[in-house]
Amino acid sequence: MMGVQPFIAIAPEGYLCSRILDLEKLVEIVELERAAFANPWSQVSLSTEIINPLNLTSVIRSKSTPEILGYSLIRIIPPEAELLRIAVKPYAQGVGVGAMLLGESLKKLLDFQLNQVFLEVSEKNSLAIALYKKAGFSVENRRPSYYDNGTTGAIIMVLDV
Ligand SMILES: CC(C)(COP(=O)(O)OP(=O)(O)OC[C@H]1O[C@@H](n2cnc3c(N)ncnc32)[C@H](O)[C@@H]1OP(=O)(O)O)[C@@H](O)C(=O)NCCC(=O)NCCS
Repeated sequence: MMGVQPFIAIAPEGYLCSRILDLEKLVEIVELERAAFANPWSQVSLSTEIINPLNLTSVIRSKSTPEILGYSLIRIIPPEAELLRIAVKPYAQGVGVGAMLLGESLKKLLDFQLNQVFLEVSEKNSLAIALYKKAGFSVENRRPSYYDNGTTGAIIMVLDV
């Protein structure tokens, strides 16, 4: 695996995607989690994941404002990586921010010797499933009774890289 490196990419339409390596943006990411998820990760969990050297944390913002609109968290253990989390602020959803963020985060994985990126998603999360399919992921497996006290299944999706 290559050493930890920051990256910055200009995504289409005036968005900026960058890697974060420290806890400078932690408060904003905690707020984003709370806004985007019914079951947000705690500040402690997020801080642990962000500084974990195995993880690639990316944020996206509009070039005209410093506010973070979305973030993604990917664990890299060659030859595999796992998309642990991706979220966009509710008011910024549905206009392509998530797709750009995912695309830029996946591009960064080309720096590593990987065969596959996988993820787990609730079968009820149709927006996320559509986003992943658009990025090239396909359904690999299903785990019944996985989330919500066994009432919701999980879908495992895989992207060959
Ligand atoms: C899943 C999520 C990250 C998508 O981000 P987004 O910025 O809204 O997604 P985009 O606008 O880039 O859309 C990407 C694709 O997702 C689908 N999609 C997104 N919003 C949609 C909507 N309102 N209606 C239908 N399809 C939609 C479409 O396939 C879209 O591609 P298209 O525009 O070419 O049709 C966002 O909805 C979110 O943060 N959800 C809450 C957190 C979450 O569930 N994360 C995933 C599990 S970790």
